[in-house]
Amino acid sequence: MQLEGLASVMFLPLLAQAQATEAASVLPLVSHIVHVLAAVVLVGGVFYQRFVLLPIELAATEPVPTVTAARKRWAMWVGMAAFFLLASGLYSIFNVVRSYEVPKYYHPLFGIKFLLAMAVFFLSSILAGRTEAAERFRQRQSLWMTLNVLAAIGIVILAGILSGAEKQPKNAAEPAPAAVASP
Ligand code: HEM
Repeated sequence: MQLEGLASVMFLPLLAQAQATEAASVLPLVSHIVHVLAAVVLVGGVFYQRFVLLPIELAATEPVPTVTAARKRWAMWVGMAAFFLLASGLYSIFNVVRSYEVPKYYHPLFGIKFLLAMAVFFLSSILAGRTEAAERFRQRQSLWMTLNVLAAIGIVILAGILSGAEKQPKNAAEPAPAAVASP
């Protein structure tokens, strides 16, 4: 009985470590899946709006109720996709910066991808919005939707380059920084 108690006490730290390692490797995977899923939803919706709903609206002489209703529903999905892309993207870039040496072009390209993503979030939200500003944007919606599609394509190309970039794990054997800085 005593031996059993001793064994379970000895294995507890091992179990805790195994769980921590598992969580550490599962979280990036979950974040990656969430990122790609949200990207598929947003980019797919941007294409659908530009190449399916817009032509229907342009061909009609009056507002088409189905298209108006679709726009209102889409606004909610834009918000959710933007939230998950931002959260999972920030988590990923934090991991990359912390754990890997990356080629020189990585950070500038990431910066461009980030700015394009902000543009897509903004255009997608305003084009689906109900405010006066949204109405003004919709007066030139062909232009803005085309730009939105181009920005989304640019993001996916940059994402492909970034995820294909060679990443070297930062060397754990490097001398640790001095505990006390010399004067
Ligand atoms: C419209 C918005 C966005 C789209 C469509 C998008 C799409 C993607 C895609 C398709 C990948 C590649 C996944 C893979 O091939 O494994 C990716 C990776 C990534 N994204 Fe995004 N993303 C968007 C926004 C963001 C934002 C806002 C951030 C940062 C805050 C971000 C940070 C990242 C990072 C760090 C990676 C990993 C790159 C690497 O593997 O080195 N993304 N993104």
